Amino acid sequence: MAAAIEIAPGCLWWSGWLDRLGQEALVAELRALLAEAPLFTPRMPKTGKAFSVRMSNCGPLGWVSDETGYRYQETHPETGQPWPPMPPVLREAWRMLAADAPEAEACLINWYGEGARMGLHQDRDELEFAAPVLSLSLGDTAVFRIGGTSRRDPTRSIRLESGDALLLSGLSRLAFHGVDRIVPGSSTLLNGPGRINLTLRRVHPIDRALEN
Ligand code: SIN
Ligand code: MN
Repeated sequence: MAAAIEIAPGCLWWSGWLDRLGQEALVAELRALLAEAPLFTPRMPKTGKAFSVRMSNCGPLGWVSDETGYRYQETHPETGQPWPPMPPVLREAWRMLAADAPEAEACLINWYGEGARMGLHQDRDELEFAAPVLSLSLGDTAVFRIGGTSRRDPTRSIRLESGDALLLSGLSRLAFHGVDRIVPGSSTLLNGPGRINLTLRRVHPIDRALEN
């Protein structure tokens, strides 16, 4: 496995972690999965303003957002069906890159179409921050911004390309991060413009009593 670059304490970046064939196979699995659990448009808590990113999930839990708030739930907000299982390659990625963490319980699927972006935020709806968040990128390149644990901390930008993996762990687990923009036409993976980002998360606390 290629060596990771630590771009901030605990923030590890594997450029080209998944090769082209692996990316194509994963996209085919995701297309089948999205036929079952279609992309939905999340809405901001309170205001109900639509996100520019569309979402779905796989795994036992999925992240959703609407007027009542951000949360994890076991079912799709529109179909009411359980989320489809995580493709094995994602569970394998988690085992390899988030080595000591217990099983991931949720994989958020973000779809960035034309003009979509994601404002600076922390991933803090989980009940366990000791486990990392693992992100995989597919399709067009994203201008990804990461800072510290305070919104006012300085930030830096990297370009996440198709096949890249990024781990938010340790001091970066609660780092503010976001996507300023997508570079249209920077990848040929998806037969058109757009980007898919997958983030795998552990939601429930690790039962340390069971581990000893
Ligand atoms: C996220 O923070 O949920 C997505 C980050 C990304 O799209 O790279
Ligand atoms: Mn996030």
